[in-house]
Amino acid sequence: MRACHRAVGEWLEPIGIRGAVDAAGNLRAVYPGQNPAAPRLLIGSHLDTVPNAGAYDGVLGLLLAIALIEELGGERLPFAVELVGFSEEEGVRFGAPFIGSRALVGRMDPALLGLRDREGVTVQEAIERFGLDPSRLPEAAIADDVLAFLEFHIEQGPTLEHLGLPLAAVEAIVGQTRSTLTFRGQANHAETTTMALRRDALAEAAEWMVAVEREAQSTAGLVATVGAVEARPGATNVIPGEACLTLDLRHASDPVRTRAGRRLTALAEEISARRRLSLESRVLLEQPAVALDPFLTAQAEEAIRGAGCTPHRMPSGAGHDAMILAERVPAAMIFLRSPGGISHDPFESVWPEDVAYAIASGVGLLKQLAVSRAFLLNTRTSRA
Ligand code: GLV
Ligand code: MN
Ligand code: MN
Repeated sequence: MRACHRAVGEWLEPIGIRGAVDAAGNLRAVYPGQNPAAPRLLIGSHLDTVPNAGAYDGVLGLLLAIALIEELGGERLPFAVELVGFSEEEGVRFGAPFIGSRALVGRMDPALLGLRDREGVTVQEAIERFGLDPSRLPEAAIADDVLAFLEFHIEQGPTLEHLGLPLAAVEAIVGQTRSTLTFRGQANHAETTTMALRRDALAEAAEWMVAVEREAQSTAGLVATVGAVEARPGATNVIPGEACLTLDLRHASDPVRTRAGRRLTALAEEISARRRLSLESRVLLEQPAVALDPFLTAQAEEAIRGAGCTPHRMPSGAGHDAMILAERVPAAMIFLRSPGGISHDPFESVWPEDVAYAIASGVGLLKQLAVSRAFLLNTRTSRA
């Protein structure tokens, strides 16, 4: 991440602004507005990514923000533009996503700071080891002068490609639950322990995983993923005494998602009781679905049209920092078509001409907002 911050810092140089890293590890840089008292518009996305990732999920959003400022060619707007490269959006290290953006809305609570990675390092300790000061986290929170948040992101699915369209305005982001489940049995010798006497934690986990897939297949719109499995102690000739799994559950309807979560936990408990094992489950994130700002979404559509594209309007199945920022300020997102619908994989990509359309739309959107009384006035009202 340090190398990434350095690289982004170099890309900021030609547009004449400097980045600073806040206490949550977010890279932030302000392009000033027409006067020092001007309110600000936040534009950005995340800089972290998943293992074996592609090159665009997240970082493209910050690069596009830099490109927009470059395109302005020094022109000042009635608002400052703060570029944000969020830290820890994916949730790979601590299981809980959106850590950087939670700092911006003042939601870095003790439970989040106490989460541990696989080596037992807490979020708080990781912040300190990076050379940052957790006591300064409150300073990372946005103030009342923020008008809105805008995020460009690859779609990460096949919809736009299927429609033959480069860009979409995102109207909502579906909710998600992330949990860990630890099944505990008894580790034992693989040769001497007969099948009837085993308390195999991984075999139980496998039975539950099949049930998870069945539940998602039989509930319209529900997606459920067991993305990581760890068997302990993890040797060919040892019956696994412990199996630790992650569960990622998503649905556009919050009640459907939470009901499915309860059913799957109850099922894990039922299987554990039958197999004489114990179960420890922990919910790391309950993130409700979020509607993005209708006014800004309509403005984004107009800007997409202005760039010569037919705008599509769609919900996002993936989570984004925008869903956290939306708690505090009006938020909008623009999706870029994902070739092959592939993401979270090295084959993830984007068409250069779609990036050009995104830049044109972004510049158009900035100029629309710069002359929109509704934009500047609305926020003044809500800040009052
Ligand atoms: C972000 O990539 C997510 O998993 O929603
Ligand atoms: Mn991602
Ligand atoms: Mn992303």
